[in-house]
Amino acid sequence: MHEEIRHPCVQHKLALLRDEATGYQEFRDLAKEITMFVCYEALKGVNVRKVSVQTPLAIAQCHKIDEELVVVPILRAGIGMLDGILGLVPTARVGFVGMYRDMESKKPVAYYQRLPSESSNALYIVIDPMIATGGSTSAAIDLIKANGATHIVVVCIVTCPEGLRKIEEAHPDVKIYTAAIDDYLDERKYIVPGLGDAGDRLFGTS
Ligand code: PRP
Ligand code: URA
Repeated sequence: MHEEIRHPCVQHKLALLRDEATGYQEFRDLAKEITMFVCYEALKGVNVRKVSVQTPLAIAQCHKIDEELVVVPILRAGIGMLDGILGLVPTARVGFVGMYRDMESKKPVAYYQRLPSESSNALYIVIDPMIATGGSTSAAIDLIKANGATHIVVVCIVTCPEGLRKIEEAHPDVKIYTAAIDDYLDERKYIVPGLGDAGDRLFGTS
């Protein structure tokens, strides 16, 4: 299951994000803003409870989020999306999974994990700007499920058919929200047209 957010405001910012002339400071701001838009969609089904609020004029019947949320950035590039989602849901807990792609095999290597305990009823939101082969996100979901999570969604910025297929086959219960589904993976397993190496572009490394 996946959903591509085709809203013009998202697509406009994505055009700027993709541009090779966009430097890391602007790239960070754009990644944060796109994350807010995509997460806004990803959270549309979250549980709410009714509350009464006294306005200056009368009592308004309102709704507040009534679900424990755990955001899990995949290190390192997922950090570039964290401020964006916490801007929407500041009370979310944050867990971390560290993964890098082995240079040769392109397979994910897990190097760090710190997830909240006693949050098995929570909605887990895995964030990573890029789902290429899908290996890193799929392995991160394995770890999160092994920690007890039963309700997981993924938010990314750019993906491609191969990555979607990998996650949907391994985790058919997990919905993926993305700003773009690109064309294909090149021989280095980079997304084309993509935006290059998201971690390097976010943090000014290369
Ligand atoms: C990037 C990206 C994803 C992964 C996607 O991270 O942020 O985690 O690659 O590729 P996949 O879908 O083929 O697994 P990278 O391994 O470059 O590490 P970094 O975040 O530390 O830069
Ligand atoms: N990781 C990235 O940062 N970009 C890609 O295109 C693929 C993996």
